[in-house]
Amino acid sequence: MTETDTATATTTDVLVVGSGIAGCAAALAAARKGADVLLVTKATKPDDASTDWAQGGISTTRGNPPSLKEDIIEASDGTADPDAVDVLVEHADDVVEDVLIDTLGVGFDQSDDGTLDYTREAAHSEYRILHVDAATGTHILRPFLNHVDDHERIDVRQDTAALELITAEGRVHGIVSDEEPTGKPIYAGATILATGGIGALYGRSTNPDDATGDGIAMAALAGADVDDLEYIQFHPTAYAGSEALSASKRSGEAAEQDDTFLLSEALRGEGAVLRNADGERFMEDVHPQADLAPRDVVARGVETERNATGEVVLDVSPLEFEADFPALAETCRDRGIDGDEIPVAPCEHFLCGGIDVDDRGRTSLDRLYAVGECARTGVHGANRLASTSLLEGLVWGLRAGGDATGFEPEVVESPDLLNRDPELPERFVTEKFTRLKRTMDDYLGLERDPDDIERASAVLRRLKGEVDAYTRTRTARDLYELRHASVTAVLIARAASENTESVGCHYVADDEAPLA
Ligand code: SIN
Repeated sequence: MTETDTATATTTDVLVVGSGIAGCAAALAAARKGADVLLVTKATKPDDASTDWAQGGISTTRGNPPSLKEDIIEASDGTADPDAVDVLVEHADDVVEDVLIDTLGVGFDQSDDGTLDYTREAAHSEYRILHVDAATGTHILRPFLNHVDDHERIDVRQDTAALELITAEGRVHGIVSDEEPTGKPIYAGATILATGGIGALYGRSTNPDDATGDGIAMAALAGADVDDLEYIQFHPTAYAGSEALSASKRSGEAAEQDDTFLLSEALRGEGAVLRNADGERFMEDVHPQADLAPRDVVARGVETERNATGEVVLDVSPLEFEADFPALAETCRDRGIDGDEIPVAPCEHFLCGGIDVDDRGRTSLDRLYAVGECARTGVHGANRLASTSLLEGLVWGLRAGGDATGFEPEVVESPDLLNRDPELPERFVTEKFTRLKRTMDDYLGLERDPDDIERASAVLRRLKGEVDAYTRTRTARDLYELRHASVTAVLIARAASENTESVGCHYVADDEAPLA
């Protein structure tokens, strides 16, 4: 620890870490209450946030909160927290109207008669999802970032990563950022983590490459409670073309050829169907909702069928694909995908668990909040219902931002991060990331075996130890991302080994549970 120069330290009322929908919502709510807000993000472009990549849409209740609640709980295999779901459904329609429509002017798609067009996705019993084509995240995040950037009370700092939390006696006082010279403290009355998910821990993911579990690791290392980390959702229909490139995203060897992209569940909601290599539909034999069963069930169905017959395709011929999904049709054209049958395979998509928070995003540590994918609100339980993640980020972001005001920043001693020896061995980060991803893919994927989980735990703990040895004397951002990824991976393996029951996204191979 080092004495802090109080005269030069950066201080703010509310510090938000992350620039997806949840971070922007938290910043907006705090600023609306008159707080000065600093939003730091390691992103340099808006599309470095998972929000920007979100396709299907944002669920509303369309005036029927109990019906959405029922679908959320059903999709979660009965494990979602009903009180948390109540918070979500009670506020859903108001926040969409207030923030997205009235404040940001998001131009959600309309039907021919000029009313809002609602779509449907798997496990939704009603058409209630607002969307812009199948590129909804982009159309929400870009105006949101512009709005936040223009706000007189909000200062946005891009290309600034959080390395550690500053804590004293169980209270969080801000972060140590990687601003030059490395290890610069930023003090805040309250700190809100909105750092997103964990896609970078897997070879294939629908997340941007920098989803390295930063907030989860920093919070856990500071002593915050984390929960439900074994519930990692795999999306059933990512383009399968790049499967052979697994674990290469960070290796640089084939990064440019990695053409994983999501084929939104909205396609199935509007009539697309899954077929095996023999051209047969198979989901009807797995679940009464067939292709529109909960996502975990469809993902396992697709994987089983790929193993049995060699391939699964998404048949979009029942749709007006070009007319109704122009952005996805263009992506397919750009990748040289011809015809109506698109090869698909499951890939990592969303972490249902995370930093444990209450109905205002408060963590177990004083003045630390968490919102968005890094948080575990209880809404998703063991499996998330489609198009509820943007909504959860918006609702909890606003609630946390509103709650986090009124605390004086205190300048305390901050961790003294050493950067004595900045040069890392060549390829150190790349090689460790490759090992981490391979371990997660092989042992902590769609289906888990108890012995494999123990094997993964041992590999990941060893890897974390090797990384820790380097962070003692270096503060490079990619090294800290690796550290956060390895801490989060160890926590995921621990959660998976402690839960021997197959439920939702956590499917234990020898539990003899049926696919559905
Ligand atoms: C999708 O468009 O299929 C993804 C939507 C979601 O993850 O909620």
